[in-house]
Amino acid sequence: MTPSLKGKDILHGNQFTKKDIDAILRTAASFEKELKEKGQVNLLKGKILATLFYEPSTRTRLSFETAMQRLGGGVVSMGSVESSSVAKGESLADTVRTVAQYADAIVIRHPKVGSAKEAADAVSIPVINAGDGAGQHPTQALLDIYTIKKELGSLNHLKISLVGDLKNGRTVHALVEILSLFDSKLYFVSPDVLRMPEQITSQLKQKGIEVNETQDMRLAARNTDLIYMTRIQKERFADLSEYEKVKGSLIINSDFVKELNKKIVILHPLPRVDEISPEVDDYQGAAYFRQVRNGVYVRMALLAMVLGKR
Ligand code: CP
Repeated sequence: MTPSLKGKDILHGNQFTKKDIDAILRTAASFEKELKEKGQVNLLKGKILATLFYEPSTRTRLSFETAMQRLGGGVVSMGSVESSSVAKGESLADTVRTVAQYADAIVIRHPKVGSAKEAADAVSIPVINAGDGAGQHPTQALLDIYTIKKELGSLNHLKISLVGDLKNGRTVHALVEILSLFDSKLYFVSPDVLRMPEQITSQLKQKGIEVNETQDMRLAARNTDLIYMTRIQKERFADLSEYEKVKGSLIINSDFVKELNKKIVILHPLPRVDEISPEVDDYQGAAYFRQVRNGVYVRMALLAMVLGKR
């Protein structure tokens, strides 16, 4: 039986079973096909999505809004924190309780780890975590998985390098939860101060996932089929002199790709700063803008599913 996400919150990468992932990817693929054929799918006519972004975003907010509109629904947005009553000191719980009077589902991004769960606990409509500080970004992980399957053809026995700020990277924290459902072999590449949190690494190992930690991106790339690059996040450093020490330490440029002498898929949740040189964008394996497009199909699937229409 196909699992149902109707009425559910989307909060953490560890909430999904393999069957959930299969259902989400199949639904996303059906929307991709339908959009290509018709440009519009009027499944959520009359439904309203509220977007609450307490932190900056381009892709996540706009792709959720695009997804809702492609499904025929409407969108209301809180706008910037400064222009909302958050600036007057309104609590997160009161804000989401208010928004739940207007909307059928909420997408929230907030700087505090655990904030999406806090919002979900305050309301009965579905709440979707669009990034809670350095915690989780589960919808990004789902679009990453959709992209990985399209680019590599399968999700089984993958060899993947995760590179960059693994300490603060909510996208990688969510992605490894989903990769752990499949028999993946992982390389974690980061400066020492930005290593994947020990708790996540040890949980992966307990699940039988092979994890290799290194600072050598070439070694990792030679042993894997896909590099998931991430930005070193200046905004997460309490001491900017620590950021200065590690910025620019891991960079993919055309020399790196040429020296590898094999096809490798390169993903990045974006935005990038300097970690992938623009000259790499024309490389066949550079899939990060295809990844961006896939976000619309996957977020359409999630909205349709939590609102009980798929
Ligand atoms: N990948 C991602 O979360 O991008 P935005 O910060 O632009 O939403």
